[in-house]
Amino acid sequence: MSARPEHTPAPTRLSDYRPPAWRVDAVQLDFDLGIDTSEVTARLQLRRDDAQDEPLRLDGEGLELLSITLDGEALAPTAWRYADHVLEIDGARDGSVLETRVRLKPAANTALEGLYLSGSREAGFLLTQCEAQGFRHITFFPDRPDVLATYTVTLRADRERFPILLAGGNPDGTGELEGGRHWARFVDPHPKPSYLFALVAGRLEKIERDYTTADGHAVKLVMWSEANVIDRCHYALDALERAMRWDEQTYDRNYDLDVFHVVATHDFNMGAMENKGLNIFNAKYLLADPDSTTDDEYRAVEAVVAHEYFHNWSGNRVTCRDWFQLSLKEGLTVFREQSFSADMNSAPLKRIEDVSLLRRAQFTEDAGPLAHPVRPSEYREINNFYTATVYEKGSELVRMTAGRLGRDGFRRGMDRYFERNDGRAATIEDFLTALGEANDIDLSPNLAWYGQAGTPRLKARGDYDAARHQYTLTLSQHTPPSHGQPHKQPVPIPVKLALFGHDGRMLPLHLDGQAAAGETESVVVLDQPEHSFVFRDVAEKPVPSLLRGFSAPVILECDYAPHELALLLTHDVDGFNRWEAGQQLAARAFDALRDGGDDAAPVAWCDALAALFTLAELDDALLAGLLTPPGELELADRQPDADPARIHALRQSLLQRLASRIGAAALHARYQSLAAPTELDLGAAGQGMRRLKRRVLELLALIDAERAHALAAAQYDNAHGMTDRLAALDVLVRNQATQGDAALAHFRARYDDNALALDKWFMVQAQIPGEPALARVQALEADPKFTLKNPNRARALLGTFASANPSGFHRADGAGYVLFAERLAQLDALNPQIAARLATAFNGWKRLEPVRREAAREAMAQLLGRPALSRNLGEILGNMLQ
Ligand code: PHE
Ligand code: ZN
Repeated sequence: MSARPEHTPAPTRLSDYRPPAWRVDAVQLDFDLGIDTSEVTARLQLRRDDAQDEPLRLDGEGLELLSITLDGEALAPTAWRYADHVLEIDGARDGSVLETRVRLKPAANTALEGLYLSGSREAGFLLTQCEAQGFRHITFFPDRPDVLATYTVTLRADRERFPILLAGGNPDGTGELEGGRHWARFVDPHPKPSYLFALVAGRLEKIERDYTTADGHAVKLVMWSEANVIDRCHYALDALERAMRWDEQTYDRNYDLDVFHVVATHDFNMGAMENKGLNIFNAKYLLADPDSTTDDEYRAVEAVVAHEYFHNWSGNRVTCRDWFQLSLKEGLTVFREQSFSADMNSAPLKRIEDVSLLRRAQFTEDAGPLAHPVRPSEYREINNFYTATVYEKGSELVRMTAGRLGRDGFRRGMDRYFERNDGRAATIEDFLTALGEANDIDLSPNLAWYGQAGTPRLKARGDYDAARHQYTLTLSQHTPPSHGQPHKQPVPIPVKLALFGHDGRMLPLHLDGQAAAGETESVVVLDQPEHSFVFRDVAEKPVPSLLRGFSAPVILECDYAPHELALLLTHDVDGFNRWEAGQQLAARAFDALRDGGDDAAPVAWCDALAALFTLAELDDALLAGLLTPPGELELADRQPDADPARIHALRQSLLQRLASRIGAAALHARYQSLAAPTELDLGAAGQGMRRLKRRVLELLALIDAERAHALAAAQYDNAHGMTDRLAALDVLVRNQATQGDAALAHFRARYDDNALALDKWFMVQAQIPGEPALARVQALEADPKFTLKNPNRARALLGTFASANPSGFHRADGAGYVLFAERLAQLDALNPQIAARLATAFNGWKRLEPVRREAAREAMAQLLGRPALSRNLGEILGNMLQ
């Protein structure tokens, strides 16, 4: 056990929730903006809860208090106290107006929370980030999401330096002031919590479009960025319009202000932020053009633009009562975004991508010491809970409920949820209650999913009784213990299933009380530790296709024979389960190589894929997915005492076997047939071709390196867009091809002034496998373009190295850990949120083999022992070491 840093505060607990003793109905904020100092006057219209006898307490951090008045009278120094980030005031009454004036230092704010400067002092702009608790860095306020107020915001600044002044809400006037200054006012009529406040001020360019909502409201949509990238905002503007239409058509949700502003910044801790009427985006999720954006990034821009827009209803109009309910807005909004993206693109591919992410990020989180429930019961630093569990697992929980209610039932439930909770700060119970009541179903058993950490294991066993033509499927569940939760309850697990005959066709289902007779797909729900489901009139011993579409976020344990998985991989019509069968089979093949077991699984996997490879009708993108076995992190999760170097080597040899089985000639021929068309097709067909082309090239490189490297070099030179160019660069660099250095130098020169493209240049090199990675990372740290101050750049180099390059980071000598821990300490002094997030790369340390495990523990313990560690990093390290 390591001691926690002494300043670590007591945890905040869900069970301690009390409604606010003081509310604020209306806020007037006046800003005098400047780069070095800004001043903020806040007038709060207060409301007291009669039932509570508490003094007025306001949150405030890092504020220089200039003046304070209550109901127009200056407060005597004895009538207020400011300590430990709380301002306590005597004499406030129901209806009082409190006015404070404070001074801030935006340019000195490296944590990127509150009011800060993006870019340089000369050319950059000012902006705010308030979720979760940034507003208290701007002014004194009850900074909690259940205090909803209307906002009137007046911005004043030098016109020359800050020509553009924006805040959330509708524009309400502009004007000139003396001394070359000007002002602009915004009024937001929708009561909102403080975390949704935002302002932006500086030199920005825009593109805009008129939009009329389905209910007839005229809206100006405006995208803002610095001048040099404004022509890269068009794709995002199109995506925004698609998202708005989709939400009107799918959920009858219309936008509710006269303007919708979106701003791009290169300095941002997260992906993007849904501030009411003024979304702020990490440029990575807003800017796109064929020359510097990959296909995957295009889809990510569309998804994040939609996600933030959807928050206007799931998050803003209906917000969260407290931060424990974070998944109420995030899980729901991720689910809405996933449904949107599935409608805009290929639904099975989207599902495959989302489940891959869930496994890579959430299952690993849930299997380590940072495991926590979708609704945690306590936290020290809320910023540490913007996790894959809250977002991705949270979305899976919504998906299960949606599946249970069916399309119309879910829509009915969502209508009820929005109607009942509009303008309120709600809980996860409110959500389940509304959905349940609209459908006369009790959804309260689903709450068990929200309160338990850990991924449930679902065991499936099939027994075929040939004489009686009966198939009995026995399902059982078990969730392993996690920190603080030694015993888990069973959760309701919906299992969508089909049964396959030996010829690869689905058999009709006859299941008492479940499927309508003759249907080939059904859903059974396991809500107890174990249950058997009996299928009648089953003509032959079937192969079950279970958890179709990934109907529940569980780990399925089913002792399929390799040829049964191969049958599903070849024939399943559920695109997701087809891929899934391949993943299972590949994992079994991997185990066989590792343990020197029999060859059945590797042979079955390679044979099935070699056959599919020649099938003309298979979608290119799906084939590329089928040809990709689980990643090194997922494979590491399958075993104790993991040795990442060995896992990397074994996975490579598995891929090599696949490549040999398909054959160099076939791979080469396929590559040629996919080679770049003259026009860049950004549609699904073009994306699929590029994805498969990359996969084929990677496979070819394993068995005919010389030819593959020549092809990659040519592809790099002739590429029409970033996807092909980066894929080629990656093949050359990872395989240490002689052509790699020239390509890297070219890329570096070509994209010297494009920050997002340069991030990719750092990322490619941070992923060089094995021993050489560390020296490369160290060399890149000395690059003039590297800086710890920019989160995207720090993530590109250090985050990629630690989280996406297991064989490079987890060196047996521990040198990767030592370097990384040192950087975390430096980062922590600048930006605690980023330091804490990157530190989660250590989460899997307990499953490493003993030498690495000890080296990792040592590096973390030393870091935790340093003085003045942030609450963010202290909590993460403390939890990982517990
Ligand atoms: N609420 C943002 C989103 O998911 C994420 C975010 C959290 C951004 C905290 C900034 C700070 O859409
Ligand atoms: Zn969100």
